[in-house]
Amino acid sequence: MSEGRGPPVVAIVGATGAVGVELIRCLEERAFPLSELRLFASARSAGKMLAFRGQSLPVRELNEHSFSGVDIALFSAGGSTSKRFAPIAVRAGATVVDNSSAFRMDAGVPLVVPEINPHTLRTHQGIIANPNCCAIIAITPLWPIHRSNRIRRLTLATYQAASGAGAAAMQELLESTRAYLEGRAYQHKVLPHPYAFNLFSHNTSIDPVTGYNDEETKVIQETRKIFGDPDIRVSATCVRVPVLRAHSVAITLECERPITPSQVRELLQSAPGVKLVDDAQRNYFPMPQDASGQDPILVGRIRQDLSDPGGRSICLFVAGDQLLKGAALNAVQIAEAL
Ligand code: A2P
Repeated sequence: MSEGRGPPVVAIVGATGAVGVELIRCLEERAFPLSELRLFASARSAGKMLAFRGQSLPVRELNEHSFSGVDIALFSAGGSTSKRFAPIAVRAGATVVDNSSAFRMDAGVPLVVPEINPHTLRTHQGIIANPNCCAIIAITPLWPIHRSNRIRRLTLATYQAASGAGAAAMQELLESTRAYLEGRAYQHKVLPHPYAFNLFSHNTSIDPVTGYNDEETKVIQETRKIFGDPDIRVSATCVRVPVLRAHSVAITLECERPITPSQVRELLQSAPGVKLVDDAQRNYFPMPQDASGQDPILVGRIRQDLSDPGGRSICLFVAGDQLLKGAALNAVQIAEAL
């Protein structure tokens, strides 16, 4: 890092992707202090120009020499690109913030949500992992509750947008919807099932032992790591829904001691990164359309879980922009904390 040498040189790997474009926007909107921004993608995008702070910057093909002089590298180009190039970037002297799942569960790699565990950044050895988007969106609002009255069990059901599968999946949702409305046949190429007016179990592989898919396993394991609580019991059902860019999650949590909805509201009222949208009179609650383009995670439908006679359980519903807090914004917040 160029401490004492002025603002850092920042690189984005995967700059043309759904998250990459948002990374550029976040750096610009948050006036991130940098001396130079370098953009990388695959050979397909070499020569493309992207706007940043009133300038037009060229996209270059990523290669082994791309990281010379780079202080911070923000990776969002998939797990295999991260596995190959993140160690090269670290060897060249860069600190990597990686959006893929490649290093998240490695013991020496902090898995960071700045509102929850920024202290773990101190132990990084060159790579910092940005958590799974659903994990970030589900658990950022739960942290103030967990700190006040330990959550011992968590059940999640997700409603995940196309953006989590990248720009091509968002395009597939738009094109297949258009084809459906026009009565045309559509051959899906990116996702494994018809997406328009449909939903399906998350398109990651199933663990034959547990029956959970990869996405569910990530949410379970990452929640424990981010909370620093290996004993928290978590279960998840992850589902892809035909929404463009914001994920929603239905959550039931069980605390150690009794807890009420008004206590939860009070805890979340001024919590960082969270906005209460809990208007029972108007039946107005978090919606992915409202969450899209917003930094905070929307939280509502806060109610006592009637199936727990002990009064220790709460149900709630959250929606957060997968491309922002679920990915680019969290990565830029990590870079800011560095
Ligand atoms: P490209 O646009 O040139 O294919 P998304 O998550 O929206 O699918 O975006 C993935 C991003 O990762 C894109 O910017 C894509 O670039 C980039 N990418 C994919 N494969 C590679 C690779 N082998 N090297 C560098 N960038 C890659």
